[in-house]
Amino acid sequence: MSDTKTILVTGASGLIGTPLCAALRARGHTVRTLSRSDRGDFKWDVAADTMDTSAVDGVDAIVHLAGESIAQRWTESVKVRIMKSRVDSTRLLVDAALEQSEKPIYIGASGISFYGIDRDDVVDESSETGQGFLAEVAREWEGAAQPLEATGVRCAYMRTGIVLSAKGGALAKMLTPFKLGVGGRIGDGQQMMSWISLEDLVQAYVFAVENDALTGPVNAVAPEAVSNADFTKTLGKVLGRPTIFPLPTQVVKALFGDMGKETVLSNLAVLPGQLIEHNFQWQHATIEKALQASL
Ligand SMILES: NC(=O)c1ccc[n+]([C@@H]2O[C@H](COP(=O)([O-])OP(=O)(O)OC[C@H]3O[C@@H](n4cnc5c(N)ncnc54)[C@H](OP(=O)(O)O)[C@@H]3O)[C@@H](O)[C@H]2O)c1
Repeated sequence: MSDTKTILVTGASGLIGTPLCAALRARGHTVRTLSRSDRGDFKWDVAADTMDTSAVDGVDAIVHLAGESIAQRWTESVKVRIMKSRVDSTRLLVDAALEQSEKPIYIGASGISFYGIDRDDVVDESSETGQGFLAEVAREWEGAAQPLEATGVRCAYMRTGIVLSAKGGALAKMLTPFKLGVGGRIGDGQQMMSWISLEDLVQAYVFAVENDALTGPVNAVAPEAVSNADFTKTLGKVLGRPTIFPLPTQVVKALFGDMGKETVLSNLAVLPGQLIEHNFQWQHATIEKALQASL
Protein backbone atom coordinates (compact mmCIF):
# COMPACT_ATOMS: atom_id res chain seq x y z
CA MET A 1 0.00 0.00 0.00
CA SER A 2 1.41 3.40 -0.93
CA ASP A 3 -1.03 5.78 0.78
CA THR A 4 -0.05 5.00 4.36
CA LYS A 5 -1.24 7.25 7.13
CA THR A 6 -0.28 8.23 10.64
CA ILE A 7 -3.32 7.47 12.78
CA LEU A 8 -4.12 8.39 16.36
CA VAL A 9 -6.33 5.74 18.03
CA THR A 10 -8.14 6.25 21.34
CA GLY A 11 -9.57 3.29 23.27
CA ALA A 12 -6.77 1.29 21.65
CA SER A 13 -6.63 -1.12 24.59
CA GLY A 14 -10.28 -2.18 24.20
CA LEU A 15 -12.12 -5.02 22.50
CA ILE A 16 -12.22 -3.22 19.13
CA GLY A 17 -9.10 -1.07 19.51
CA THR A 18 -6.68 -3.93 20.12
CA PRO A 19 -7.31 -5.83 16.85
CA LEU A 20 -7.90 -2.56 14.96
CA CYS A 21 -4.42 -1.21 15.82
CA ALA A 22 -2.91 -4.54 14.68
CA ALA A 23 -4.90 -4.44 11.42
CA LEU A 24 -3.92 -0.82 10.69
CA ARG A 25 -0.24 -1.62 11.32
CA ALA A 26 -0.51 -4.70 9.09
CA ARG A 27 -1.73 -2.35 6.31
CA GLY A 28 1.44 -0.27 6.70
CA HIS A 29 -0.07 2.60 8.68
CA THR A 30 1.71 4.16 11.64
CA VAL A 31 -0.44 3.98 14.79
CA ARG A 32 -0.19 6.21 17.86
CA THR A 33 -2.35 5.52 20.89
CA LEU A 34 -3.93 7.92 23.38
CA SER A 35 -4.90 6.44 26.74
CA ARG A 36 -5.74 7.22 30.34
CA SER A 37 -2.92 4.90 31.37
CA ASP A 38 0.83 4.74 30.73
CA ARG A 39 0.21 1.94 28.23
CA GLY A 40 -0.59 4.55 25.55
CA ASP A 41 1.96 6.51 23.51
CA PHE A 42 0.23 9.70 24.69
CA LYS A 43 -1.92 10.40 27.73
CA TRP A 44 -5.20 12.14 28.48
CA ASP A 45 -7.50 12.51 31.45
CA VAL A 46 -10.92 13.09 29.97
CA ALA A 47 -12.60 13.54 33.36
CA ALA A 48 -10.14 16.35 34.15
CA ASP A 49 -10.53 17.76 30.60
CA THR A 50 -6.81 17.50 29.81
CA MET A 51 -4.79 15.80 27.10
CA ASP A 52 -1.33 15.84 25.63
CA THR A 53 -2.33 17.67 22.46
CA SER A 54 0.98 16.81 20.76
CA ALA A 55 -0.69 13.39 20.17
CA VAL A 56 -2.51 15.04 17.25
CA ASP A 57 0.52 16.83 15.75
CA GLY A 58 0.95 15.73 12.14
CA VAL A 59 -1.57 12.85 12.19
CA ASP A 60 -3.61 12.14 9.04
CA ALA A 61 -6.50 10.49 10.90
CA ILE A 62 -8.06 10.17 14.34
CA VAL A 63 -9.97 7.00 15.22
CA HIS A 64 -11.90 7.67 18.40
CA LEU A 65 -13.17 4.59 20.25
CA ALA A 66 -12.70 5.52 23.91
CA GLY A 67 -15.67 5.64 26.24
CA GLU A 68 -16.90 4.41 29.60
CA SER A 69 -18.41 0.90 29.35
CA ILE A 70 -22.15 0.77 28.64
CA ALA A 71 -22.45 -2.73 30.16
CA GLN A 72 -23.07 -1.77 33.77
CA ARG A 73 -26.06 -0.65 35.82
CA TRP A 74 -26.91 2.91 34.83
CA THR A 75 -26.88 4.90 38.04
CA GLU A 76 -27.02 8.67 37.53
CA SER A 77 -23.25 8.96 38.02
CA VAL A 78 -22.58 6.11 35.55
CA LYS A 79 -24.81 7.83 32.97
CA VAL A 80 -22.83 11.04 33.39
CA ARG A 81 -19.57 9.09 32.87
CA ILE A 82 -20.96 7.28 29.80
CA MET A 83 -21.95 10.60 28.24
CA LYS A 84 -19.01 12.79 29.27
CA SER A 85 -16.30 10.23 28.49
CA ARG A 86 -17.53 10.26 24.87
CA VAL A 87 -18.61 13.86 24.32
CA ASP A 88 -15.86 15.64 26.28
CA SER A 89 -13.17 13.38 24.78
CA THR A 90 -14.44 14.16 21.27
CA ARG A 91 -14.29 17.89 22.05
CA LEU A 92 -10.69 17.55 23.29
CA LEU A 93 -9.71 15.75 20.07
CA VAL A 94 -11.61 18.16 17.83
CA ASP A 95 -10.10 21.23 19.53
CA ALA A 96 -6.60 19.77 19.05
CA ALA A 97 -7.39 18.83 15.42
CA LEU A 98 -8.62 22.37 14.67
CA GLU A 99 -5.20 23.72 15.76
CA GLN A 100 -3.44 21.72 13.03
CA SER A 101 -2.56 23.37 9.70
CA GLU A 102 -3.40 20.07 7.93
CA LYS A 103 -6.46 18.84 9.79
CA PRO A 104 -6.81 15.06 10.28
CA ILE A 105 -9.88 13.12 9.18
CA TYR A 106 -12.05 11.83 12.04
CA ILE A 107 -13.51 8.32 12.28
CA GLY A 108 -15.55 8.04 15.46
CA ALA A 109 -17.36 5.16 17.12
CA SER A 110 -21.10 5.55 17.55
CA GLY A 111 -23.99 3.15 18.04
CA ILE A 112 -27.08 1.92 16.22
CA SER A 113 -28.88 3.02 19.38
CA PHE A 114 -28.91 6.40 17.56
CA TYR A 115 -32.12 5.02 15.95
CA GLY A 116 -33.79 4.38 19.32
CA ILE A 117 -34.91 1.31 21.26
CA ASP A 118 -37.87 -0.28 19.52
CA ARG A 119 -38.63 0.27 15.83
CA ASP A 120 -40.89 -1.58 13.44
CA ASP A 121 -39.26 -0.10 10.32
CA VAL A 122 -35.92 -1.22 8.88
CA VAL A 123 -33.56 1.73 9.37
CA ASP A 124 -30.65 2.98 7.29
CA GLU A 125 -28.37 6.00 7.59
CA SER A 126 -31.11 8.33 6.33
CA SER A 127 -33.51 7.34 9.14
CA GLU A 128 -34.27 9.78 11.88
CA THR A 129 -33.00 9.35 15.43
CA GLY A 130 -35.08 7.72 18.18
CA GLN A 131 -35.80 7.61 21.89
CA GLY A 132 -33.66 6.64 24.85
CA PHE A 133 -30.51 7.51 26.75
CA LEU A 134 -28.15 5.77 24.29
CA ALA A 135 -29.77 7.61 21.36
CA GLU A 136 -29.05 10.87 23.16
CA VAL A 137 -25.45 9.76 23.79
CA ALA A 138 -24.98 8.88 20.09
CA ARG A 139 -26.41 12.24 18.96
CA GLU A 140 -24.20 14.27 21.32
CA TRP A 141 -21.14 12.12 20.58
CA GLU A 142 -21.47 12.57 16.80
CA GLY A 143 -22.45 16.21 17.28
CA ALA A 144 -19.27 16.96 19.21
CA ALA A 145 -17.28 16.44 15.98
CA GLN A 146 -19.39 19.04 14.10
CA PRO A 147 -16.88 21.91 14.50
CA LEU A 148 -14.32 19.76 12.63
CA GLU A 149 -16.83 18.57 10.01
CA ALA A 150 -17.87 22.20 9.49
CA THR A 151 -14.35 23.01 8.23
CA GLY A 152 -14.84 20.51 5.39
CA VAL A 153 -12.79 17.71 6.97
CA ARG A 154 -14.08 14.17 6.32
CA CYS A 155 -15.79 12.80 9.42
CA ALA A 156 -17.43 9.36 9.64
CA TYR A 157 -19.46 7.98 12.53
CA MET A 158 -19.47 4.21 12.82
CA ARG A 159 -22.97 3.40 14.14
CA THR A 160 -22.04 -0.02 15.44
CA GLY A 161 -24.35 -2.93 16.16
CA ILE A 162 -23.78 -5.75 18.66
CA VAL A 163 -20.15 -6.79 18.21
CA LEU A 164 -19.74 -10.56 18.22
CA SER A 165 -16.54 -11.88 19.76
CA ALA A 166 -15.77 -14.61 22.27
CA LYS A 167 -13.15 -12.24 23.75
CA GLY A 168 -15.59 -9.69 25.13
CA GLY A 169 -18.84 -7.78 24.74
CA ALA A 170 -22.35 -9.25 24.64
CA LEU A 171 -21.53 -12.69 23.20
CA ALA A 172 -18.78 -13.42 25.73
CA LYS A 173 -21.25 -12.63 28.54
CA MET A 174 -23.86 -15.01 27.10
CA LEU A 175 -21.48 -17.91 26.61
CA THR A 176 -21.38 -19.33 30.13
CA PRO A 177 -25.14 -20.05 30.47
CA PHE A 178 -25.33 -21.30 26.88
CA LYS A 179 -22.35 -23.64 27.37
CA LEU A 180 -24.00 -24.93 30.57
CA GLY A 181 -27.17 -25.65 28.57
CA VAL A 182 -29.26 -23.07 30.48
CA GLY A 183 -29.31 -20.42 27.75
CA GLY A 184 -32.39 -19.35 25.87
CA ARG A 185 -34.14 -16.54 24.09
CA ILE A 186 -34.54 -13.19 25.81
CA GLY A 187 -38.11 -12.00 26.36
CA ASP A 188 -40.34 -13.29 23.55
CA GLY A 189 -37.32 -13.50 21.22
CA GLN A 190 -39.06 -11.44 18.53
CA GLN A 191 -36.78 -8.39 18.95
CA MET A 192 -34.41 -7.88 16.01
CA MET A 193 -30.68 -7.86 16.69
CA SER A 194 -28.32 -5.98 14.37
CA TRP A 195 -24.86 -7.44 14.83
CA ILE A 196 -21.39 -7.55 13.26
CA SER A 197 -18.44 -9.88 13.77
CA LEU A 198 -15.42 -8.25 15.43
CA GLU A 199 -13.28 -9.12 12.38
CA ASP A 200 -15.72 -7.42 10.00
CA LEU A 201 -16.00 -4.37 12.24
CA VAL A 202 -12.21 -4.00 12.33
CA GLN A 203 -12.15 -4.19 8.51
CA ALA A 204 -15.01 -1.67 8.32
CA TYR A 205 -12.90 0.79 10.36
CA VAL A 206 -9.89 0.16 8.09
CA PHE A 207 -12.20 0.71 5.09
CA ALA A 208 -13.45 3.98 6.59
CA VAL A 209 -9.91 5.21 7.24
CA GLU A 210 -8.76 4.41 3.71
CA ASN A 211 -11.88 5.18 1.66
CA ASP A 212 -12.55 8.90 1.12
CA ALA A 213 -16.08 8.19 -0.09
CA LEU A 214 -17.20 7.13 3.39
CA THR A 215 -18.50 10.16 5.19
CA GLY A 216 -21.14 10.96 7.80
CA PRO A 217 -23.04 8.13 9.49
CA VAL A 218 -21.98 4.59 8.55
CA ASN A 219 -24.05 1.70 9.87
CA ALA A 220 -21.47 -0.88 10.98
CA VAL A 221 -23.60 -4.03 10.99
CA ALA A 222 -23.87 -7.24 8.96
CA PRO A 223 -26.26 -7.14 5.97
CA GLU A 224 -28.86 -9.27 7.79
CA ALA A 225 -30.34 -8.59 11.20
CA VAL A 226 -31.75 -11.64 13.05
CA SER A 227 -34.47 -12.10 15.63
CA ASN A 228 -33.24 -12.96 19.10
CA ALA A 229 -35.02 -16.34 18.74
CA ASP A 230 -33.05 -17.15 15.56
CA PHE A 231 -29.82 -15.91 17.12
CA THR A 232 -30.47 -18.16 20.14
CA LYS A 233 -31.24 -21.19 17.96
CA THR A 234 -28.05 -20.67 15.93
CA LEU A 235 -25.89 -20.15 19.02
CA GLY A 236 -27.26 -23.41 20.50
CA LYS A 237 -26.56 -25.22 17.23
CA VAL A 238 -22.98 -23.92 16.97
CA LEU A 239 -22.28 -24.83 20.62
CA GLY A 240 -24.18 -28.14 20.42
CA ARG A 241 -26.30 -27.19 23.44
CA PRO A 242 -30.06 -26.94 24.12
CA THR A 243 -31.58 -23.44 24.36
CA ILE A 244 -34.80 -24.11 26.23
CA PHE A 245 -34.56 -21.66 29.15
CA PRO A 246 -35.95 -18.27 28.12
CA LEU A 247 -34.89 -15.22 30.12
CA PRO A 248 -38.14 -13.33 30.82
CA THR A 249 -38.32 -9.62 30.04
CA GLN A 250 -39.20 -8.83 33.65
CA VAL A 251 -36.06 -10.59 34.90
CA VAL A 252 -33.86 -8.65 32.44
CA LYS A 253 -35.48 -5.40 33.59
CA ALA A 254 -35.01 -6.31 37.26
CA LEU A 255 -31.38 -7.35 36.75
CA PHE A 256 -30.20 -4.66 34.36
CA GLY A 257 -32.75 -1.83 34.50
CA ASP A 258 -32.72 0.64 31.60
CA MET A 259 -29.41 -0.77 30.36
CA GLY A 260 -31.18 -4.09 29.62
CA LYS A 261 -34.12 -2.32 27.98
CA GLU A 262 -31.87 -0.32 25.64
CA THR A 263 -29.49 -3.20 24.77
CA VAL A 264 -30.58 -6.87 24.94
CA LEU A 265 -34.31 -6.05 24.75
CA SER A 266 -34.01 -3.43 22.03
CA ASN A 267 -35.63 -4.12 18.66
CA LEU A 268 -33.61 -2.64 15.78
CA ALA A 269 -33.23 -3.96 12.24
CA VAL A 270 -30.46 -1.85 10.73
CA LEU A 271 -29.26 -1.85 7.11
CA PRO A 272 -25.60 -1.04 6.36
CA GLY A 273 -26.49 1.31 3.50
CA GLN A 274 -23.12 3.05 3.08
CA LEU A 275 -21.05 -0.14 3.37
CA ILE A 276 -23.22 -1.86 0.72
CA GLU A 277 -23.10 1.19 -1.54
CA HIS A 278 -19.30 1.31 -1.35
CA ASN A 279 -18.97 -2.44 -1.92
CA PHE A 280 -17.58 -3.44 1.47
CA GLN A 281 -17.01 -7.21 1.61
CA TRP A 282 -18.16 -8.96 4.79
CA GLN A 283 -16.21 -12.03 5.88
CA HIS A 284 -19.15 -13.13 8.03
CA ALA A 285 -22.39 -12.07 6.37
CA THR A 286 -24.60 -14.62 8.14
CA ILE A 287 -25.06 -15.15 11.87
CA GLU A 288 -24.08 -18.82 11.59
CA LYS A 289 -20.75 -17.96 9.90
CA ALA A 290 -20.06 -15.22 12.46
CA LEU A 291 -20.78 -17.47 15.45
CA GLN A 292 -18.78 -20.36 14.01
CA ALA A 293 -15.81 -18.04 13.42
CA SER A 294 -16.08 -16.41 16.88
CA LEU A 295 -16.43 -19.66 18.77
N1 LIG B 1 -18.49 -3.58 21.64
C1 LIG B 1 -19.70 -3.26 21.15
O1 LIG B 1 -20.61 -4.13 21.00
C2 LIG B 1 -20.00 -1.85 20.71
C3 LIG B 1 -21.21 -1.57 20.07
C4 LIG B 1 -21.50 -0.26 19.70
C5 LIG B 1 -20.60 0.76 19.96
N2 LIG B 1 -19.41 0.46 20.57
C6 LIG B 1 -18.51 1.58 20.88
O2 LIG B 1 -17.21 1.38 20.36
C7 LIG B 1 -16.24 1.89 21.26
C8 LIG B 1 -15.19 0.82 21.53
O3 LIG B 1 -15.86 -0.33 22.04
P1 LIG B 1 -15.07 -1.50 22.81
O4 LIG B 1 -16.05 -2.63 22.93
O5 LIG B 1 -13.74 -1.72 22.20
O6 LIG B 1 -14.92 -0.82 24.25
P2 LIG B 1 -14.00 -1.26 25.49
O7 LIG B 1 -13.42 -2.62 25.27
O8 LIG B 1 -14.81 -1.01 26.72
O9 LIG B 1 -12.80 -0.21 25.41
C9 LIG B 1 -13.04 1.17 25.50
C10 LIG B 1 -11.73 1.90 25.80
O10 LIG B 1 -12.07 3.23 26.17
C11 LIG B 1 -11.22 3.70 27.21
N3 LIG B 1 -12.10 4.12 28.32
C12 LIG B 1 -12.85 3.34 29.15
N4 LIG B 1 -13.51 4.09 30.05
C13 LIG B 1 -13.16 5.37 29.79
C14 LIG B 1 -13.49 6.62 30.39
N5 LIG B 1 -14.32 6.69 31.45
N6 LIG B 1 -12.94 7.74 29.86
C15 LIG B 1 -12.09 7.69 28.80
N7 LIG B 1 -11.73 6.53 28.20
C16 LIG B 1 -12.27 5.40 28.68
C17 LIG B 1 -10.30 2.55 27.61
O11 LIG B 1 -9.01 2.81 27.07
P3 LIG B 1 -7.78 3.30 28.02
O12 LIG B 1 -7.84 2.47 29.26
O13 LIG B 1 -6.59 3.02 27.17
O14 LIG B 1 -7.98 4.74 28.28
C18 LIG B 1 -10.94 1.32 26.96
O15 LIG B 1 -9.97 0.41 26.49
C19 LIG B 1 -16.96 2.31 22.54
O16 LIG B 1 -17.04 3.71 22.62
C20 LIG B 1 -18.33 1.68 22.39
O17 LIG B 1 -19.37 2.45 22.97
C21 LIG B 1 -19.09 -0.80 20.96
